[in-house]
Amino acid sequence: MGDALRSQDWYGRPLEGFAHRSWMRRGLPDDAFDGRPMIGIATTWSELTPCNSHVDEIAEHVKRGVWEAGGVPLIFPTTSLGETQIRPTAMLLRNLMAMDVEESIRGNPMDGVVLLGGCDKTTPAQLMGAASVDLPAIMVSGGPMLNGRYKGSELGSGTDLWKYTADVRAGTMSMDEFLELESCMTRSRGSCNTMGTASTMACMSEALGIALPHNGAIPASDSRRLRLAHLAGRRIVEMVQEGLTMSQVLTRANFENAIRILAAIGGSTNAVVHLLAIAGRLGVELSLDDFDRFSQEAPLLVNLKPSGDHLMEDFFYAGGLPVVIHHLRDILDGEAPTVMGRPFSTYADSIAAESADPDVIRAIDDPLQAESGIAVLRGNLCPNGAVLKPNAATPELMTHRGRAVVFESIEDYHARIDDPDLDVDETCVLVLKGCGPKGYPGMPEVGNFGLPTKVLEKGVRDMVRISDARMSGTAYGTVVLHTAPEAAAGGPLAVVRNGDTISLDVPNRSLTLEIDDAELERRLKLWVRPDPEYTRGYYRLYIDTVLQADEGCDFDFLVGKTTRPVTRDSH
Ligand code: FES
Repeated sequence: MGDALRSQDWYGRPLEGFAHRSWMRRGLPDDAFDGRPMIGIATTWSELTPCNSHVDEIAEHVKRGVWEAGGVPLIFPTTSLGETQIRPTAMLLRNLMAMDVEESIRGNPMDGVVLLGGCDKTTPAQLMGAASVDLPAIMVSGGPMLNGRYKGSELGSGTDLWKYTADVRAGTMSMDEFLELESCMTRSRGSCNTMGTASTMACMSEALGIALPHNGAIPASDSRRLRLAHLAGRRIVEMVQEGLTMSQVLTRANFENAIRILAAIGGSTNAVVHLLAIAGRLGVELSLDDFDRFSQEAPLLVNLKPSGDHLMEDFFYAGGLPVVIHHLRDILDGEAPTVMGRPFSTYADSIAAESADPDVIRAIDDPLQAESGIAVLRGNLCPNGAVLKPNAATPELMTHRGRAVVFESIEDYHARIDDPDLDVDETCVLVLKGCGPKGYPGMPEVGNFGLPTKVLEKGVRDMVRISDARMSGTAYGTVVLHTAPEAAAGGPLAVVRNGDTISLDVPNRSLTLEIDDAELERRLKLWVRPDPEYTRGYYRLYIDTVLQADEGCDFDFLVGKTTRPVTRDSH
């Protein structure tokens, strides 16, 4: 047994505990308050978060496991963020949700917590908030949707939306066909069925050892997802009894493993900002350069959209993340701790050693691509770094030099991208400013902004694009993202002009604005910070305190390892 149960500070005092116990009874047996672990189940269920609209059922199955193991389960709601619904971008509210999760856990009588995530930001926000309280915690993801299908072809969430949107704009697909796709793409409950950000973060939870084996891939509609939830409910009670907290599970070795696995699964660039932010909450040293370094150790093994051909359902049938862990065993730290209380290497014990479908999960000596993961670029255009996903890019554009066509904001882009007089061709480099954490604000997923129609009509589908934005995990293209410092913070991106020459050299990890240092300095001195558009409320707090992308976009005052929570009693 670990330390005395935290919940006993509420319930264990005969006199002062009256109010706490009395109001909570509502059918609970007397012994519920006699030292049984109180387990919070943080649900992100919401009908405004379609990807999480089934999470209430998962919560009920976690509950069964908690009861069975002798704990007392207590479901509580957190902020929920529906990626496709919320404006201006769910990323703006990730930190708000993390604060909600943190204080909901800290302020309530719980000894451990099961975190239920799904849609993109709901996973990192849960992990960030819980990390700052540092109780025993397990993540259970909602799981991906089943494969969509249209006219015989599989449809991947997001990825095929980008593809067919370009086809409509180029005139090769009719609007009627496009509208028919709408209902074919979202076939069942669950999150995006591609290796987008939701699936990436579900896999990252498993790779970090903060979720049970198979958390990443079991489809939302598969009853084995409910079994996983049940087992998580059982296990969290044991973790409380063992005193196994989040910071004991999430060590630097776990993050290094996660970055290698991120490369092997072809995961979302959004994992960069989320893993940096989670590590920051735990006091684990992790830098942008670690992503490049550890990515290079692992080839791309998982053949899923947007980097490959298949979808999450296929990944599960091929064996899911445990097969990937098994294939990467020589480069992973098998001794990294996990919520199971066993070393990470045991996460591969639950499967047959080899992939059930070698086209979906490739062997280590037959990878989809030798280079994968995250390339971190440096240069005078991004002194604090920028990222690019090589396996989502066009190989021929990985080394490219071109004339800049600059858009000062997303509104400027929308106003001019299809202007017939826009001086642009496929050899140009499109530059978009004002979409970073402070600039938008919230760093939206617009980094894969579309090509000019007149270029699309030539059959061209990719150009080099540079911005301070993020990109949807379901998207692809030769897009330089997360440029830091961002334009709104006075980074060099702010002073790029139409007609400048920009060179991208991914093999050498450089991004260069071809002007001399004196000219760059002169332009930066002339740059005037725009007046803030938002002067009150959460937006103001966000703009004033958000860190840049290379530091995970957390609020500056939330970074750092927590001390054990002090809980004052007002009764
Ligand atoms: Fe929710 Fe993709 S939009 S997971």
